[in-house]
Amino acid sequence: MVKIEPFALEHYLNDKDPKAKYNLAASCALPISLQELKSLSDSAAFSPNSDNVTPPLPTEILSWSMDYGSMFGSEKLRARLASLYSVKASTPLSPDNVLITPGASSADFLIFHALCDRGDHVICQYPTYQQLYSQPASLGAEISLWKTKGEDNWRLDIEELKGMIRPETKFIVINNPQNPTGAIIPRSTLESIIQIARDHSITVISDEVYRPLFHSISPVDEEFPPSVLSLGYDNVIVSGSMSKAYSLAGIRVGWLASPNNDLIAACKNWRSYTTISVSQLDEQVASYALNECLHNLLKRNNGLAKHNLGLLEKFIEQHRWACEWVKPVAGSVAFVKFSKMGRAVDGEVFCQRLLEKEGVLIVPGSVCFGKGEDFKGYVRIGFVTETKVLEEGLERLKAFMMEGFEGLPVCK
Ligand SMILES: Cc1ncc(COP(=O)(O)O)c(C=O)c1O
Repeated sequence: MVKIEPFALEHYLNDKDPKAKYNLAASCALPISLQELKSLSDSAAFSPNSDNVTPPLPTEILSWSMDYGSMFGSEKLRARLASLYSVKASTPLSPDNVLITPGASSADFLIFHALCDRGDHVICQYPTYQQLYSQPASLGAEISLWKTKGEDNWRLDIEELKGMIRPETKFIVINNPQNPTGAIIPRSTLESIIQIARDHSITVISDEVYRPLFHSISPVDEEFPPSVLSLGYDNVIVSGSMSKAYSLAGIRVGWLASPNNDLIAACKNWRSYTTISVSQLDEQVASYALNECLHNLLKRNNGLAKHNLGLLEKFIEQHRWACEWVKPVAGSVAFVKFSKMGRAVDGEVFCQRLLEKEGVLIVPGSVCFGKGEDFKGYVRIGFVTETKVLEEGLERLKAFMMEGFEGLPVCK
């Protein structure tokens, strides 16, 4: 039996989600209905009569044969993704460089199972989504966590990376934009990571599921992070998803992409064992969203993220006596530290009492993102939700700060 650590975040959410009145724990931009998606299509802007606008699932679909569909993902969807990744790349990707998967969790699973072996040394950015280090560890790899700190703006230290490289280092794993901090890895740091990987023949695995939810950095900023696919190095593989920036977690469509055909071939083989193909209906909705609605959908989500982040910032400013953060730059979550008289509060008890007393669900950082003693006092707050839910949730959190915060235990 392959042993793997319990997936702390997912177990926490599975248990607590049903108890939440105000769910501020999600990391998906506010999920969208197919009706609303249709209203965001480019053709809807020119058609006063919505009956003339093609819906995400057009009626022709009734005559589609429900066979497996395209084995590696629909050609239309893979072509669209390849062209989106190629906008800034010196060598364009082809549809064959992309594989469609049921969500990015499946893409990440395939990447590690296909490429990672017992005895490999894997360097993984930290904190991050647990799958990115627990899964290679379950396969017998040795993991070194490339740690970042809030006090240092979650900055990755390149000199530290150089010191971590060993002859058997096979992968550097990064997550950009980043869960749970909402930080980005800036372009110059990405370029240094790629240079080091190139010098040591290391493969870079980049989980980019929060692209392109860039609410607080402009694409013309010189440190705006590109996908690692456009940095001119072949030994990179990325995962992406419709779940986060595109609000469509319910269709379960993700992907992996690489310019390196050998990496793709290895993942294809594992995909044949685990997936065979992805639902044709799901792929059709994903294609529709990325072809017909891309600009309006991203405008909706980046606008919502910006507006809601302002509300969260106001809360933080009003409660500076108890909390601190590095304001997120991208993605849908913020990592906030709560302390009393300079000592971190017990984040697990905090989240538990907040849920019981006020019905607000947030995520304790030490439980869901920390190993050992890490991230005491931190909580992850998902803010790209319905504005009304965020406003009411923050009102309840304010009430808790007045009545329940004083009684919280602090960490040793
Ligand atoms: C960094 C990261 N990767 C992958 C996933 C899984 O996403 P998906 O819904 O596409 O499976 C998540 C979900 O929270 C995530 O945060």
